Amino acid sequence: MSHIAFIGTGAMGSRMAQRLLAAGHELSVWNRTRSRIEGLLALGAHEAGSPRAAASQADIAITMVADVNALEAVTRGQDGLLAGLRPGSLLLEMSTSGPRAVLDLSTHLPPGVALLDAPVLGSLQEVERGELHIFVGGAGDDFAKASPVLSALGTPLHVGPLGSGAKAKLLANASLIGVLGLLGEVLALSGGLGLPQDTAFTVLSRTPLAAQAERRRASVETSDYPPRFALSLARKDAELVTAAGEQAGLELNLLTAAADWLRKAEAAGLGQRDYAAVLQEILGQSRKGL
Ligand SMILES: NC(=O)c1ccc[n+]([C@@H]2O[C@H](COP(=O)([O-])OP(=O)(O)OC[C@H]3O[C@@H](n4cnc5c(N)ncnc54)[C@H](OP(=O)(O)O)[C@@H]3O)[C@@H](O)[C@H]2O)c1
Repeated sequence: MSHIAFIGTGAMGSRMAQRLLAAGHELSVWNRTRSRIEGLLALGAHEAGSPRAAASQADIAITMVADVNALEAVTRGQDGLLAGLRPGSLLLEMSTSGPRAVLDLSTHLPPGVALLDAPVLGSLQEVERGELHIFVGGAGDDFAKASPVLSALGTPLHVGPLGSGAKAKLLANASLIGVLGLLGEVLALSGGLGLPQDTAFTVLSRTPLAAQAERRRASVETSDYPPRFALSLARKDAELVTAAGEQAGLELNLLTAAADWLRKAEAAGLGQRDYAAVLQEILGQSRKGL
């Protein structure tokens, strides 16, 4: 069993930490908002006064925070995680922060500390069930060392050298974000053409969008989007995708449009709703036109 420093106990991180405790690991936890670690303390986690303090006893450290700014805030500086990591320890960056942030982090590692990027596909239910897909980038022996810990959370897949996990995660989220935008526009078109939504869903059930249409139908019909993955985080991911495309010199027109919809939905006040609420924003235009 490992001693794990766990940094970032938001919606995903708190559930991941809970599973690691249940698997018998010892955890030192830190979160910017202290109240969000209380449930974990009751389950036997130790409270750390800073990310640095959490790291000081750990063989493995995990970061699961919102974005690249949060990652910098918890890793850098006098009280940051990097200042506390011991030689021989392993840092697992599991947030969706993108390949650039991972490579940047690697340049600040203390001597003898190894890094894997290990972002996850799956949301709250998948963590609770230990069914995340975890895309891991980094050295093979570090992957072997991390696997027993990661296996408590889901299925780790070693996809290549450092940064490859973050790249793989961009592919996964590009497909999630893109398909949602397409579904929204197809439904908006149906409304604009005056076809009943029921008919649209019947048609979609015969197309490549069938599974996504079925999955989102209840939310579209009730305008209830149960919170799992905040729309503002999906907007952040869409911007990581388009920035990576630009850097690679690619024209990603569909994904750029999907990012625009997420930005519009966030500007309309939907940032803290589930990311599927982007459908509400896209459908708003056809409803206005009816
Ligand atoms: N939710 C999902 O379905 C899902 C699925 C796969 C991947 N992800 C990714 O997993 C990561 C976490 O997502 P989540 O849903 O758990 O988000 P969340 O509930 O919003 O939690 C975000 C975490 O980041 C911390 N944080 C934010 N800004 C910070 C800063 N400046 N300094 C220090 N800590 C900061 C928050 O601390 P406070 O508590 O103090 O705000 C919280 O612990 C994100 O990268 C997300 O894209 C999410």
